[in-house]
Amino acid sequence: MSDAARRVQALGNQIAPPNSSSSPSTPEIKKIAGKSVGPRVEGKVVIITGANSPLGIGRASAHLFAENGAKAVYICDFDGTHLAAHKQEIETLYPATEVHTRQFDAADEKAVKAVVDDAVKTYGRLDVFFANAGVVGPHAPFTQVGKEEFMKVLDTNVSSVFLAAKYAAPAMHLTTPSKPSPSGSIIGTASVAGLRSNAGSTPYSASKAAVISLAQTIAYQLSGTNIRVNAICPGLIETGMTAPTFEAARARGTTRKIGQLNPLKRGAVADEVARVALFLGSDEASYVNGQAWAVDGGLSAGHPYVLGKMA
Ligand SMILES: NC(=O)c1ccc[n+]([C@@H]2O[C@H](COP(=O)([O-])OP(=O)(O)OC[C@H]3O[C@@H](n4cnc5c(N)ncnc54)[C@H](O)[C@@H]3O)[C@@H](O)[C@H]2O)c1
Repeated sequence: MSDAARRVQALGNQIAPPNSSSSPSTPEIKKIAGKSVGPRVEGKVVIITGANSPLGIGRASAHLFAENGAKAVYICDFDGTHLAAHKQEIETLYPATEVHTRQFDAADEKAVKAVVDDAVKTYGRLDVFFANAGVVGPHAPFTQVGKEEFMKVLDTNVSSVFLAAKYAAPAMHLTTPSKPSPSGSIIGTASVAGLRSNAGSTPYSASKAAVISLAQTIAYQLSGTNIRVNAICPGLIETGMTAPTFEAARARGTTRKIGQLNPLKRGAVADEVARVALFLGSDEASYVNGQAWAVDGGLSAGHPYVLGKMA
């Protein structure tokens, strides 16, 4: 038998060992998660940062987690302008979910520890930490960015995810009668800017690349704990952060240009990113770990290409 044939046979044996039962009865499909029709995060306790912005990914995610049966959702932001209104709206729509508002800087270690401690004290568990708060920072060539400005972007966008993982992981490890074994999902919002160039300034892109790296390295440090860590990489989403771009395009009558670089040829709304956060936070993503999830209409799937400009 040739080497190649032996390799194919060995692979086949691994998938269906030669001595395995060839019983005609089909095996039961083994499942980790509950029914996929929802509620998909029933009973889970969720913390979300960057949840104040009315157009933002954080608020849209809080709604989805509540809609899907979360026991409690902590909506956190350093800007508290809309948090009370969001809480009232979510609790009216989804009365089974308890909503807590917290106003703090997502990169403040004591404050991050405090919100995690509160979840553990109140509910005895923490299941999801969606570290979503982020800032764009200066729009300037890198030679004109001061070190302090650079570090400020890194502090907000990276320390916030690091601290979320640092305090969430031990809390997710705790068990109670309602949660007999450790589990949890830590999600950081990165960006397509963290995958490669041309989607943000140097400090912003560097900070988002670091978020992806945190997901990769921490996932391995949490080996064997059943606590997963992933990064979401949004493309162009209409939120508080990008509203000026969308508004300017509307004012100029150039909305059809929005998202023209991705194959879906459009920008997205926050809910389209929140759907991925919900999936990653749910047990349906039970084998998804250490990954960077691009939610970008396909933008990062291609190389730069301009019709008629190949040569
Ligand atoms: N909108 C996009 O196109 C896009 C693309 C890629 C990545 N992102 C990322 O998505 C995340 C959510 O942003 P968004 O698009 O919903 O924008 P947004 O401006 O609507 O929401 C961001 C929220 O984060 C809060 N925030 C900022 N710094 C904070 C801090 N230090 N502590 C606590 N809260 C803080 C803001 O007050 C705001 O409510 C960010 O991390 C952003 O970098 C957005």
